[in-house]
Amino acid sequence: MSLAKNIPITPSPFRDEPSITMEIIFATHNKNKLKEVQSLVPANMHVISLDDLNMTTDIPETGHTLADNALIKARTIFELYKKPVIADDTGLEVTVLNGAPGVYSARYAGEPSNAENNMTLLLENLEGKADRSAHFKTVIAYINAEGKEQLFEGRVDGEIITERRGGEGFGYDPVFLPEGYTATFAEMPLEEKNQISHRARALRAFSEFINKA
Ligand code: IMP
Repeated sequence: MSLAKNIPITPSPFRDEPSITMEIIFATHNKNKLKEVQSLVPANMHVISLDDLNMTTDIPETGHTLADNALIKARTIFELYKKPVIADDTGLEVTVLNGAPGVYSARYAGEPSNAENNMTLLLENLEGKADRSAHFKTVIAYINAEGKEQLFEGRVDGEIITERRGGEGFGYDPVFLPEGYTATFAEMPLEEKNQISHRARALRAFSEFINKA
């Protein structure tokens, strides 16, 4: 597969402003994720999405771990643009299912990806199980301007309840109850979820690293 044909970059999304001291590509087409990331990284960092770069090709997630997939995405983009890049991959890991659906969370019930079917299968597989503990995990792969790779992780613990609750969010949110809360992720306002989420925690770890560098 050739990705190079998707490179036309006019006008350039890269900025030349004194207040912006670092530009970084975030390997996503998802506008909500982009907003979340821009709000969590240091203020002097300008985040550029794949849409800003007019890159329409999906990067296949062929890895067997979250770290593999995050690295595959980050390396693909770094090879094309030679700019700092971050890429993420997330999974829901359920203790009694030996970490499943894990890296296959998006397509747990098969392809094409369907959140309703995924939740139905998960609830079926947990029927009668006493231990319903689970966590979301996000791995962020960062490649700096020199090509050095670094991984960051964020995790939120909780449990899978027995039926769906709430209409916010996406994916497994209606069945995930974070530890210490009475509302599922789908019953929380997005801002509250974004304070405690796996993605936010991984991004904070990345931001702290950048701030220290
Ligand atoms: P991705 O790596 O962010 O694309 O996430 C992979 C899959 O994990 C998604 O398709 C969802 O099924 C699930 N997932 C990721 N983040 C969340 C979340 O915040 N809430 C619920 N499900 C999520």
